[in-house]
Amino acid sequence: MKFFIDTANPGEIRKAYEMGVIDGVTTNPTLISKENRDFDSLIKDICGIIRNLPISLEVIGLKSEEMIREARTLSKIGDNVVVKIPMTSEGLKAVHVLIPEGIKTNTTLVFSATQALLAAKAGSTYISPFIGRLDDISQAGMELVEQIVTIFNNYDFKSEVIVASIRHPIHVLEAALIGADVATIPYKVIEQLTKHPLTDIGIERFLEDWKKVPKK
Ligand code: G3P
Repeated sequence: MKFFIDTANPGEIRKAYEMGVIDGVTTNPTLISKENRDFDSLIKDICGIIRNLPISLEVIGLKSEEMIREARTLSKIGDNVVVKIPMTSEGLKAVHVLIPEGIKTNTTLVFSATQALLAAKAGSTYISPFIGRLDDISQAGMELVEQIVTIFNNYDFKSEVIVASIRHPIHVLEAALIGADVATIPYKVIEQLTKHPLTDIGIERFLEDWKKVPKK
């Protein structure tokens, strides 16, 4: 399973990249706004860290013509740019135009398996079900991922499933068990994944015992 980091913070991206566990970056307008910086210089900084790894950048327009125009501009930033398009009928029209132009898309804000099926039929490169937001309203987000992965396997759709809106390590574990292609994970959760109390206790004990070893 690929790990993308779900943030626009260059410091977090650098730390995760240096751990060697990152295969790409996803952003959205909320994450970009948190950085409180000029968009162009922020993206330049991020691309300087991740080099050719894919980075998802989202369009703001709601009409397909606006999405297509924004996507063409964003794609000029680099070959690694993936354009995030909201899951609407206008978004599907945009995907249908952009994919033949060689522009990669990430259909976002997917909350049902039939939305995912439509986005796959339109040819979207990636499809992002938002599982945490479903959990928030008492719907089992991971069941949606199971359905989408089953449907895509049934018909050999090429779109990759990005499990998005991840909130904790169990989401990552379940996504991997289901066989999702990608999990896009906030930095805090990547850090949580590194931790186990027995690892900390083990290190402490080894260091204490090492002190007892006679040294010249
Ligand atoms: O990748 C989608 C993600 O950024 C949304 O996460 O926590 O706002 O639901 P969240």
